[in-house]
Amino acid sequence: MIFKNLQLNIDIEDPLFNTLYPWRIKKLAERHWTPVEVAKLAADYLVDKPNCKVLDIGSGVGKFCLIGAASTKGRFYGVEQRQKLVKLSQSIAKTHQINNVEFLHSNITQISFSAYDAFYFYNPFYENIDNSLLIDSKIVLDEKLYSTYSKYVENQLKKTPIGTRLVTYWSRWTEIPEGFDLEFTAYNGNLNFWEKKF
Ligand SMILES: C[S@@+](CC[C@H](N)C(=O)[O-])C[C@H]1O[C@@H](n2cnc3c(N)ncnc32)[C@H](O)[C@@H]1O
Repeated sequence: MIFKNLQLNIDIEDPLFNTLYPWRIKKLAERHWTPVEVAKLAADYLVDKPNCKVLDIGSGVGKFCLIGAASTKGRFYGVEQRQKLVKLSQSIAKTHQINNVEFLHSNITQISFSAYDAFYFYNPFYENIDNSLLIDSKIVLDEKLYSTYSKYVENQLKKTPIGTRLVTYWSRWTEIPEGFDLEFTAYNGNLNFWEKKF
């Protein structure tokens, strides 16, 4: 019913979507996983043509990718450093037969952006500089990691072609290179829609 409604563009509330997850994951939702409405808006902007390949940088439990895959004609790819979260995302996609989505267990620094057309960024590296409401205890606070990861994303985005679309949610914009123009903004400036112009 959840994915059917997304496919039919029928609104669904976050508490309903989050029933897909175990309690431990559900209670992190407000802080760590994209709200349904935000995911729909972002995915709709990023998929500007059928089969467009969208990369979620730090895909968590797959919420953005699963919603994007069900509600658009794009192909969604999530990269996530925590293996358990990748397995959970894959199992939900399999159970609900969402076939235009893939989840990969990796650090973002191992991923070349050249294989993708558009990018989604929900402040993934913030956990390296802020230890309130952690996903788990696996991450050490380290400002250097935050800047290494942000720099990596910036360098990869620099190499993307003109016309590349990017959506950021709760970002500090440090990873956005010159050449990306802000097209629209929503949610009090926290959700931003970018396009590369030069
Ligand atoms: C704020 S959550 C967003 C999850 C998902 N994009 C969503 O919107 O529902 C950020 C995720 O990025 C992951 N992450 C952080 N740093 C990463 C890195 N260097 N490589 C891969 N994943 C990373 C974290 O493990 C976490 O699951």
